[in-house]
Amino acid sequence: METQSAARHIACIMDGNGRWAQQRGLPRTFGHKAAEHAIETVIRTALEEGIPWLTLFAFSTENWSRPQEEIDSLLDTGCQILRRRVHDWHRAGIRVRGMGEETPRIPDALRQELQYAQQLTQHNRTMTLTVAVNHGGRSEIVCAARTLIEERVPAEEVTEESFAQHLQNPDMPDVDLVIRTSGEYRLSNFALWRCAYAEFVFPEVQWPDFRAEHFRQALELYAQRRRRFGGATASIPHPRSAQPQPPVGLTGSLPSLSNVLSLPGGIATRLGGHLLSGLYDTARYAKSQLEVRSEPRM
Ligand code: IPE
Ligand code: IPE
Ligand code: MG
Repeated sequence: METQSAARHIACIMDGNGRWAQQRGLPRTFGHKAAEHAIETVIRTALEEGIPWLTLFAFSTENWSRPQEEIDSLLDTGCQILRRRVHDWHRAGIRVRGMGEETPRIPDALRQELQYAQQLTQHNRTMTLTVAVNHGGRSEIVCAARTLIEERVPAEEVTEESFAQHLQNPDMPDVDLVIRTSGEYRLSNFALWRCAYAEFVFPEVQWPDFRAEHFRQALELYAQRRRRFGGATASIPHPRSAQPQPPVGLTGSLPSLSNVLSLPGGIATRLGGHLLSGLYDTARYAKSQLEVRSEPRM
């Protein structure tokens, strides 16, 4: 049977802050402030699930086209979140990194806060939290091309591997799973190179309402995906065996295995599948035994 390895790198396109606020009759900036709770929740849940790389898309190269007042509020909110949380993250073993093109448009306070966070947490290895500010997938690729040219790398030495080594944060693995909230189904210029074979989950909730259960649901959906990277399908599961229906009497919601056993979501989902099919076999056997016993004796 094909098995799906656990996600190493999860990226969140944190979308829907503005609509979240507008739906409540509030200014859009309130939505950016309300994003902090979801950010904390995702980081904590990713730690619990043993995810080694988490990337949060916070501000794109295109977001400069917003009204200056909103830009100021967004970047200031980001700066305050970093300032408030960085020591907790450090204690949790998180390495903080920035990702995005340097520009004087980024306020000094935010730049300094990011630099401080990176320096403080540089030796941590439990999880790498990358915060994408002034990030654009195309700009990232152009910067890598520029560096290759500046280093006078001969054309025949430019390969996918050497190119990737010239991206910012070259040790960062490809993105396995992109979660974009708010029901928008697009990349919006996020990490184009590293998302070449990413899986996607698009929860409908606005980012400020994103919670641990949404994150775990996304992990469970990811665990059911079969990534082929261009290869052939090894086997096609029978439609009925792929989605076993619970036997009569075994309905209602059960606590999630990852909650009960504190297992990473991917492992818990696969384990759950095995346990459930074992349970069905046992139920079928018990039923057949009862039928044998209840047959009239001669
Ligand atoms: C995401 O929320 C925050 C950033 C883009 C930085 P939005 O501000 O895009 O919220 P919507 O999409 O307008 O609701
Ligand atoms: C993507 O959201 C960028 C971030 C979440 C930082 P946008 O709201 O800017 O994307 P579009 O404009 O809807 O594509
Ligand atoms: Mg948006």
